[in-house]
Amino acid sequence: MLDYRAKFVLAPMVRIGELPTRLLALKYGADLVWGPEIIDKKLLTCERIYNENLKTIDFRSKTGNKKIPGMTDVVFRTYPELENDKVVFQMGTSNAKLAVEAAKIVINDVGAIDINAGCPKHFSIHSGMGAALLSTPDLLCEILTNLVNEVGKPNNKPISVKIRLLPNKGDTLSLVNRLVRTGITNLTLHCRTREMRNREKPIRDYIDEIKKICNENNVSFIINGYIKDYKEFKELQNQYGNDVGVMIASAAEINPTCFNKDGTLPWYIAAKEYIKFADKFQNHPANSKYCISRIIPNVRNENVIYKLITKARTAEEFSDILLNKMDDNGKFIDKEDDKKEEITDKTTSVKHKIVDTESNIEKKIKV
Ligand SMILES: Cc1cc2nc3c(=O)[nH]c(=O)nc-3n(C[C@H](O)[C@H](O)[C@H](O)COP(=O)(O)O)c2cc1C
Repeated sequence: MLDYRAKFVLAPMVRIGELPTRLLALKYGADLVWGPEIIDKKLLTCERIYNENLKTIDFRSKTGNKKIPGMTDVVFRTYPELENDKVVFQMGTSNAKLAVEAAKIVINDVGAIDINAGCPKHFSIHSGMGAALLSTPDLLCEILTNLVNEVGKPNNKPISVKIRLLPNKGDTLSLVNRLVRTGITNLTLHCRTREMRNREKPIRDYIDEIKKICNENNVSFIINGYIKDYKEFKELQNQYGNDVGVMIASAAEINPTCFNKDGTLPWYIAAKEYIKFADKFQNHPANSKYCISRIIPNVRNENVIYKLITKARTAEEFSDILLNKMDDNGKFIDKEDDKKEEITDKTTSVKHKIVDTESNIEKKIKV
């Protein structure tokens, strides 16, 4: 059974948290990986298919993707060989009945189900989902209790929730007090209020009190917000106790190797590794392009590799740019430069030959 305690984890991220990013994060040391938020109603349109070719489990929507024509109908893809019991499926919902029905579709193929009650973006809060659930605690508790009793317990799988801070401490503590009594196994706290943006420093003033409530109810606790690497994970554990977990989003969006014990790897290694996973699992090219563009820095708009990626469209082009046209230091391998060098080499050797012949003639004349 998936255990959240003391884990270093990849956050749920729409668009970013597809299979290649999750496998890359796992490869470099993430203990658990969240999938991107998927809405209950969308999941209910899906059928489960074992993809013999890729050895993945695909949840394909029978209705396709109407918003982005041509976009794949694969709503969620998991690779059990590497993700088994490490992938947490995050659901967006505002209806306990639908949440239970939808969770039953994926429960056998994921380690756990997490409910998004923290994301303030439109894609989450419309129809009362995401951070909107913080204002409807009765509904949130009903969703969690039903999931625990009807999906979690019968399948021996944990149910968890991800929340934000409420505007004041008292309200936050009473919400947490209610949530930990629903039978959930883990509570993740994004240490910002709904109004705060990701660039703002998190509020960690009463983490100890929240953690105490979790501990007393045997619920594990994960801290999220403004954390960038393994070093900070360990610092937070030193500060708040070895049993706390730590979740990373933005830093992993920019470089999914940030979980590495010895420090985040350079972007060009992350980009090369990303594209290998994307190729292997036939990730949708539009999604790969988006994720790679987040990984490649483009300071002062001068990165040739970044520019090439923005012009490319197909999976083959992305691989060619990152694996053949970029050297091991992230520099563009300029074939034109190579040609110039070749020409210079040839000219030099012709010159050598002429000199050789001239000196031979000289020798002959002297003789
Ligand atoms: C690109 C992106 C997509 C996100 N999508 C989700 C999501 O699907 N579900 C969710 O609960 N939070 C989502 N979030 C919020 C993160 O999980 C996380 O709580 C937040 O970014 C704070 O962590 P950070 O400071 O490490 O970025 C998203 C954040 C980013 C940057």
